[in-house]
Amino acid sequence: MDQFLVPSVSKPLDGEVEISGAKNAVLAVMAAALLADGVSEITNVPHLKDMKTMSDVLRIIGCRIGGGSHELRIDTRGADHLEAPYELVKTMRASFYVLGPLVARFGRCRVSLPGGCAWGPRPVDLHLKGLEALGAKVTVTHGYVEATCEGRLKGGTFHFPVSSVGATVNVLMAATLAEGESVLQNAALEPEIDNLVDYLIGMGANIQGRGTRTLVVQGVEKLNPGKGRTIPDRIEAGSFLCGAAITKGRVKVTNMDPVHIAAVLDVFRDMGCKVSTGSDWAEVDARGVELKPVSVTTLPFPGFPTDLQAPLMATLMAVPGISVIQDTIYNDRFTHIAELKRLGADIQLVGNTATIHGGKPLESANIMASDLRASAALVLAGLIAEGETTIDRIYHLDRGYEDFEAKMAALGATVKRVRPGMEG
Ligand code: UD1
Repeated sequence: MDQFLVPSVSKPLDGEVEISGAKNAVLAVMAAALLADGVSEITNVPHLKDMKTMSDVLRIIGCRIGGGSHELRIDTRGADHLEAPYELVKTMRASFYVLGPLVARFGRCRVSLPGGCAWGPRPVDLHLKGLEALGAKVTVTHGYVEATCEGRLKGGTFHFPVSSVGATVNVLMAATLAEGESVLQNAALEPEIDNLVDYLIGMGANIQGRGTRTLVVQGVEKLNPGKGRTIPDRIEAGSFLCGAAITKGRVKVTNMDPVHIAAVLDVFRDMGCKVSTGSDWAEVDARGVELKPVSVTTLPFPGFPTDLQAPLMATLMAVPGISVIQDTIYNDRFTHIAELKRLGADIQLVGNTATIHGGKPLESANIMASDLRASAALVLAGLIAEGETTIDRIYHLDRGYEDFEAKMAALGATVKRVRPGMEG
């Protein structure tokens, strides 16, 4: 398994990084392709492990996947095996997105339950209840969800008791082909949902309320194959901007939308960084700045994203004083703390709240990535730890950061990928 070797930076990060397409947005749209018979196209697709996993899920269903550089073509004309197996769904929860489109279009499907993940249980009850509200009959047997309906799904009203990106994606896709009107209340507001709504409208779906908590869908009998460009990855952008703050350097992220990370930019401002933005870029400049501790709570969009909780925590280790981070989305998403402590971090965790005593010297160690965003946090920490930090299990990082080492190199950091036993 590959490792990263991360020597401490000799000088603060300084430079520009072009942000890739948002993997979470692509995953939803790839599943949406199943709603139509024909060839759908997606552009601005990052080269990432998760795209390959979703392609494998679609291939098992009978789709053909092609495309060029940063483009995907999904031909659903052969889709007839209405099943997503455990082997794939367990490696990537978003595989579960095929559930809604398959039952809506074919009237039946069998999809493995995703199971938990490194930071605890992640239920799918709202995906299932939402589909039931549209008339699907849902049973769970032997670890698989079986969903069926007689004829078409029937439009209905569903109120999401908590804001859920994944459940909104699944139920919204299903509603586009349901008979009559569906009303989704307290739908998620994340930009990836807007990206999906745009794509579905391009396929011929009738959806009102884009960008609001209430989506009203008039179901149609048939959708056409889609074509659309993916929004930029706000989490990738935020992760690189953390690199500016933690090394007291300057990073400009381009080809992105600063509105998508407004809450994140506010945190950098609160820390004392100079933040500038344009229509498709943002810059954090921490050169010569006395960084200040902050108190941050993760929230659904437009709040501070849970996916940047770990990178921010690493960043706050470099900020003298006491910072606090509370994660209200995932109470247990803190496996990175034990690894950061191996570098000398002083962090206390009580419930879902971490208190970071920053500004203490860190020294390199062997550490291990436990999930995608935690792995970015460990690299950031490695940049300021004295000596060379070795990070294991970086396959997690490969799920979500395209060309990571090259982008880091463009900012002046050396992140070297090695395969133990294969050097020399
Ligand atoms: C998506 C993102 C993930 C991000 C998360 C929160 C993708 C592929 N993944 O994950 O990167 O961290 O949003 O922004 O886009 N919940 C339930 N029942 C459900 C579903 C969710 O109780 O059926 C709860 C979860 O436990 C969590 C909250 O709802 O507390 C939000 O989770 P959700 O938005 O669904 O996360 P994902 O869609 O899995």
